[in-house]
Order: sequence, then structure tokens, then C-alpha cells
Amino acid sequence: MPGFAAEAHGLDLSQPLDAAQIQAVDAAMDRHAVLVFRSQALTPEAQLRFARSFGELDLGFKKASKSSNRLAHEELLDISNVDEHGRVADRNHRKIVGNLANQLWHSDSSFQDPPARYSMLHAVVLPEEGGETEFADVRAAYDALPDAMKQRLAGLTAEHYALHSRFLLGDTDYSEEQRKAIPAAAWPLVRRHPGSGRELLFIGAHASHVLELSVAEGRLLLMDLLEHATQPRFVYRHVWQPADLVMWDNRSTLHRGRPFDLSARRELRRTTTLDAAA
Ligand code: OGA
Ligand code: MN
Repeated sequence: MPGFAAEAHGLDLSQPLDAAQIQAVDAAMDRHAVLVFRSQALTPEAQLRFARSFGELDLGFKKASKSSNRLAHEELLDISNVDEHGRVADRNHRKIVGNLANQLWHSDSSFQDPPARYSMLHAVVLPEEGGETEFADVRAAYDALPDAMKQRLAGLTAEHYALHSRFLLGDTDYSEEQRKAIPAAAWPLVRRHPGSGRELLFIGAHASHVLELSVAEGRLLLMDLLEHATQPRFVYRHVWQPADLVMWDNRSTLHRGRPFDLSARRELRRTTTLDAAA
């Protein structure tokens, strides 16, 4: 594993964590950015309790989404291709486009204020092939930029909009009300990660344009930065095993799902905390 992803051992996430354990996870997240916990068969309640140890939970895109929630808990996000009847959804089903949008490099809920801090994704059912999740280290990516680019980026702000990634995929059938349900948020392109003090590139599929530049120039800059930040040397690819829980910091990483056969069942559950200090 590259240095920013690490396997965590010695914690049973089905049990409540004490303050020292929570602090140890926070410290490991600051140092790394992706933690892999293997063999953690978690009930929805246990996953929610674990997530709440790190702050208030996020509903993210759900505020504007069109599909009903299959899971009983609002704050448990259904990252699956399963429909409301529990069957593998037809590839033209509404929720599949959301699933596919997760295959664009992004930082969860960067389109809102507060955005997401930690996401925790738990694997329940996996396809035999494909469906890996990749993570890119945007702190290392920032460090590797030429000085002239670092200077150019200082003082630039990107607007992040929830539906931008959907529009990119040709999913444009949203009412005015849905378009306004999640107002855009603006974030500096370069931010400092409080826990590590390191600077990072805050970009991804929700970033639609750069406020200080023309749309065209800003989009090209965003594309260039994304290409830079997602080079193999900055990327960890997670190959899922059932009962894995992978926790990542949405400030210091980008992530994306990889393709899989949409007729094969893939079922994961996500909990996400808000970055209240953003
Ligand atoms: C997510 C996400 C990617 C995947 O759950 O936030 O982007 O591989 N998932 O399912
Ligand atoms: Mn995501």
C-alpha cells in the first residue's frame, strides 16, 4: 500500500470505541488518509455508531436525489445497484446514474457547506470482478506541483455543485426545485489539512468552474489538476473483500469506483461525517 493508505488492526468496530481509541483513529487518519479495516461484519446500527464517534452525519446528495431510500436509516447511504424491491436494478433505473457518477474522481459532498470529513464504506455483497475503489492523495499531489503552478493556484476558488457530475454524464432531467435543493459551495483550490498541517488540492467532479477565471479556462485548469493528482504514483486501489470497512478523509483524498458488470450485485453501505470546521 502507498504511504497514505494503511491497514488498521486491533479494533472491533462492532463494539463502542472509547475516547482513546477514537483519538487513535483520528491520529491515524491525519497521518495516512485511508484506513482499511478487514473482517468487520457490521450491522447498520454498529456502522452508524462507529461513524457518530467522529461527528454529526451527512446526508449528502440524498437531499436532491430522486430514488427512495432502500435502507431503514436515513444516514446509512445505499451504495448499491439494488432496487427498492431488493433486486439488481435495471441498468436504466434512476439510481444507476448515481452509482455511475461515483466512478468519477470526487470528494464526497464537496458541493455543500459543511462538506464531508470522513466517509466509511462497508462491503456487504461484491461482484466477482471489478468494482474496486481507488483513492488519490491530494496532499502528495499538491507537494509535487511545480512552484509556478502553486503560485498560480494561490487565491483561486472553485465552485462545487451537486449536479455537475450528473450533467457530465448526460443526466439533466432535474426540475428547478431539485436544481436548487443543494446550493453550490465555493472552496479555495488549495486548502490546508488541519490535522497534518499539509496543503492539498481540493478538486473533483463536483467542481464546475473557477470563480476568478472564465468557465473555459477554469475547467481546463481543473481537468489538468485532476489529471496530475490521479497519476498512478498518487493512487491506492482498494480490492474489496466482504466485511471490509474502508475509511477515508475527503479533505486529503479523492476517490472513485471502478466499473463492474451492472447485472452483478454490488452492495455497500456508507456513513459520512460532516466537516464542521470547514
Ligand atoms: C462512495 C463512493 C465508490 C464505490 O460511496 O462515496 O464514491 O466504489 N463509492 O462504490
Ligand atoms: Mn463518494
